Formats: sequence, structure tokens, C-alpha cells
Amino acid sequence: MTAGGDCPGLNAAIRAVVTRLHAAGVPVLGIRNGWEGLMEGNCHPLTRDDVRGILTRGGTILGTSRRDPYVHGEGYASIASTLRERGIERLIVIGGDGSLTAAAQLNNEGLPVIGIPKTIDNDIGGTDVTFGFHTAVQIVTDAIDRLTTTAESHNRVMVVEVMGRTAGWIATYAGIAGGAEAILVPEVSYDIGDVAARLQSRHEAGSAYSIVVVAEGTPAPGGGTWESGVDAYGFSRLGGVSTVVAAELERLTSFETRVMILGYLQRGGSPTAYDRVLATRLGVRAAELALDGESGVMVGLQGDDIVAVDLGLVAQGPRNLDVARHGVASWFWPDR
Ligand code: F6P
Repeated sequence: MTAGGDCPGLNAAIRAVVTRLHAAGVPVLGIRNGWEGLMEGNCHPLTRDDVRGILTRGGTILGTSRRDPYVHGEGYASIASTLRERGIERLIVIGGDGSLTAAAQLNNEGLPVIGIPKTIDNDIGGTDVTFGFHTAVQIVTDAIDRLTTTAESHNRVMVVEVMGRTAGWIATYAGIAGGAEAILVPEVSYDIGDVAARLQSRHEAGSAYSIVVVAEGTPAPGGGTWESGVDAYGFSRLGGVSTVVAAELERLTSFETRVMILGYLQRGGSPTAYDRVLATRLGVRAAELALDGESGVMVGLQGDDIVAVDLGLVAQGPRNLDVARHGVASWFWPDR
């Protein structure tokens, strides 16, 4: 099952799980559209042939949704009939923090579960990195490279907003890779006046453009997370803070400023080689843990090793950015 927001590498992980279990002669069911498929009995056999040719494809062949058995149902009771009728013995959930938290609860209620972490946000504990993140960083870096040449031609400031929910991983990595002049993230407080002064001294020193990367969960200059409503499942939607940041920078510096909200481009398309390999390693290991009769664990990457950690770790909340990495970027700013 794939649940929560999609990300590049999901199909590589599905392919790995199915192929490894198929080699052991174990039948696999694919659950449609995340937890919704279990709640509504929407699942179908997944064969080795079904997963041929999907390694390089973005998205998920199983579909996904943000429906949650605890938020939109009665937990275990809402999936019990599907488990019984379809003879499901063990569930492999490829999900982010929300889906894996539900998975941990179901495991505690008696359903053997193995988790595989995924998200472009890179905000899951127990693993050094999640697949999808590397691809998103590459997409944002490519975008910054392109925005740089048009910004430079017009002597403009480009404010680039990226995803990440409450974590600044994508912003920090892509900001470093793209040579951004400022990187605003939820984990590091900032003063908009200081950012404006930094841009001014850079332009006075001869630069004809500046790139400012803003993570979507960063508080606005006046404070407060910028939400653009709720989705169909009642979860808050982030996005738009860059418009306030840009307006404030333009007011303080008088530089012409433009906004680029990269949005879903960051989640679409083919995974990088790094994400394909990571998703494949995690999928094979998850299948092997299932064959060994394990449950209540999540596979993850620690150092260069694939490990199994307690699934309950995920419920401790999102893994924030290691702010030392943000500090690396600051050495390249003129006010240092
Ligand atoms: O969690 C992944 C993510 O892409 C976040 O970065 C973003 O805030 C959110 O999903 C968007 O979710 P949705 O697809 O529900 O709009």
C-alpha cells in the first residue's frame, strides 16, 4: 500500500517488494488509494508482471490518498472486514509520518505491519534520508539555475518557495546547491530587515540578482504559518508565504522582486538514480523482514546500511532540519 502524498520512488519500492516476495512464492495484494482501499475492500492481486517497467516512473501505480483509518474511521474496526475477507496476514505500508503513525497504531491493535518511509520532505525519524527527497532537491536546484539567468538579466530578486511542510530540508539542500542568497526555513528564525540588508550589500558589491529560497512552512515576516485552507480530508494546506516575503523585501530594498512557487513540480516525474536505489534497497529489505515474520518495524537508511527500527519512532513527530546544515549556507552570505 502507498499512502499520503506521492513522491518519486514509490513505484521502485512497490516493484522491489513484489519481486522479492514473488521470488519466495508469496502472493501479494496491492491496496488501491492508500488506507481507503483497505477501508473499502479495494485490493487486487499484484504479480511480478504487474510491476515490470515501473522502476523509472514517478507517482504510484497503486494510487494514494490522505484518508486515515483513525481520522476518518474507527481505526482497526474500519479495515477488519477487508483483512478477514481477503486473508491479509501482513501489511507493508509505504508512507510518510501520518500514514506510518496510523500503521504503528494498527500494529499495536494486532495487524502485523512493516513500514517503508517515503516523502520529499525528508522529515521522518529513524532514517537518515527518505526516497523522493533527493529527486525534489534536484528539481528545485534545476529551477534555481534557470531562475538565476532570468533574474540576472533583469536585475531582480527571485523568491522561490518550496515544499517541506514544517521542515526546511528541501529549502536548505536546494538553496546550498543553487547558491541562494538567503534560505528561510521553519527551524531557524530570521529578521526580514537583515535579509533585505544582505541583498542590498550584495547588489552594492556588483551582483545583478539574488535568489531567496523560502520553505512553505516558514513563518511570515509578521509571524504565523501561512495556510491556504484545508484539503478534502481536513488537513491544512501550506503555501503562499513567499508572496509576503517578496512584498516585504521589495518594500525594504526597492529591488524588483518576483515570486516562483514550485509546488507539485517537486513531486512529479522520474526519480533520480539515488532514489531508485534507495527505494529498491528499502523494498527488498521490507519484503525480507515480512518473510522472516517480523512486524512493528520500519526500514530505514543509517549511514550506508539499511536497518530496521521500531515503527513507533515515527509517532514521535516530524524530524526537523539539522540546523548545522543551514549554517553551512550562511558562510557564503555577505553579512558573514
Ligand atoms: O508531504 C509532502 C508534501 O508534498 C508537502 O511538502 C506538501 O505540503 C504536501 O505534501 C502537499 O500535500 P497535498 O498533495 O495533499 O496538497
